[in-house]
Amino acid sequence: MAFRQIKIFDTTLRDGEQSPGCSMHINEKIELALQLERLGADIIEAGFAASSPGDFDSVRTIAQRIKNCRVASLARALAADVDKAYEAIKDAAAPRIHIFLATSPLHMQYKLKMTEDEVLSRIAESVKYAKSKVFDVEFSAEDASRSDRGFLKKAFEAAVKAGATVINMPDTVGYCTPGEMYDLARFVKENVKGADKVDLSAHNHNDLGLAVANSLAMVEAGITQVECTVNGIGERAGNASLEEIVMGINTRPYLYNAETRVNTKEIYKTCKLVSNIIGVNIHPTKPIVGGNAFAHEAGIHQHGVLAKKETYEILSPESVGIPENKIVLGKHSGKHAFYEHLKEMGYRDINGERLQELFDEFKRLCDVKKSVSNRDIEALLSNKSLEKNLKYTLENFVINCKKGNAYAAVSIRCGDNEIKTEIQDGDGPIDGAFRAVDKIVGRNFMLSDYGVQSVTEGKEALGESYVRLSLENGASVIGRGVSTDVIESGILAYVDAVNKLLE
Ligand code: KIV
Ligand code: ZN
Repeated sequence: MAFRQIKIFDTTLRDGEQSPGCSMHINEKIELALQLERLGADIIEAGFAASSPGDFDSVRTIAQRIKNCRVASLARALAADVDKAYEAIKDAAAPRIHIFLATSPLHMQYKLKMTEDEVLSRIAESVKYAKSKVFDVEFSAEDASRSDRGFLKKAFEAAVKAGATVINMPDTVGYCTPGEMYDLARFVKENVKGADKVDLSAHNHNDLGLAVANSLAMVEAGITQVECTVNGIGERAGNASLEEIVMGINTRPYLYNAETRVNTKEIYKTCKLVSNIIGVNIHPTKPIVGGNAFAHEAGIHQHGVLAKKETYEILSPESVGIPENKIVLGKHSGKHAFYEHLKEMGYRDINGERLQELFDEFKRLCDVKKSVSNRDIEALLSNKSLEKNLKYTLENFVINCKKGNAYAAVSIRCGDNEIKTEIQDGDGPIDGAFRAVDKIVGRNFMLSDYGVQSVTEGKEALGESYVRLSLENGASVIGRGVSTDVIESGILAYVDAVNKLLE
């Protein structure tokens, strides 16, 4: 039986990134876009080109790099926004302009201060204008779920008549229930003239915890595109989570009569990448990728799973690419075995100098840890301090500390040759070390968050630190560092954040 194809529209880089604490550096956005391409997203919304020069640059760079999926930029229903969106995405293999305008009485009266007729003309004009530039134009009726049905029908018909290829019905404030969103999707499918010629799309926010349920209800109702974000990040309580929607459909294809193009084995890696970039750990009970999602603690469950997995397991960790955390390699493993193992873990593009550096790091780790597991290797892979051409790199450090007081001497390589050393005191070793880095760099950075956690169990485990430095304009950058020495991992994370900030 051939299932209906549901297109996955990923908006992690737009709706996800615009929420507080989730901002990403352009290099991280590119890395994530490439991973979303590998995952098999159908459309990547790379950003909102008109919102800032930084967003414009990242949308344009992503549009130029991505070859196997569509790249979209958001735009308000304004010619100037459409122009910016077009400039940013015009080099994409498959460009899309995504126009939005609110259609609910509340938004039209208080936010837009526009009449219904004005809104209808603006939709028609902006979609027509975008259509003169690209073939693929999406129209979103912001706050569609709280819009009057009769007016929404007119708004969507205006968009379709002007050439829209996708019409999207967001539950912008996460207010509705699955039953209501099912009805809305059926209403649009059955009543909007031309609805059968375009993709119908869901975009649900999670304010009441219903975003995924609402999206899946709309899939049942017959829509063909779902907008979502990795780990469900997004405004307020977030957006519908990509991995939950994809696995929901993948687990019950007959119920939804649907499938996606997503390579589910890339899900875990994608979720980990987003968690590392934004410095927010995946909650242990998060469906699909949380640390406990496949753990069976209760005796009855363990017994059942041992007898037959399916008694308590509806999907397997392997199906979403969670590597078994078995001990995989050790001191005597050679470079070839290490390389083969990376490939097995799904990292097929690592070779040359990068492979050698990772292998050297792996060997150093083997000297400290008797055995190295997949989770250790993942941590090494995400270690930014191995990157080349960094402005600052940690050379060495010495800590002298007693309770409540510490001295830190830190040496940093600045550029290619110069090594600078500073000694600073602080409340503790981390405080002293961060002050020493500040002194070397000649700045006083605002540390707004710092955390450390162990990658695996045991005293000799790798420690993974993250540091958030804030800027006066409210933006922040995240730095990460990995080492078996938690002080070193903290300094590495701090230096990583400084490099990003001063780029
Ligand atoms: O939530 C929303 O309504 C949006 C639109 C811009 C699509 O993000
Ligand atoms: Zn949204």
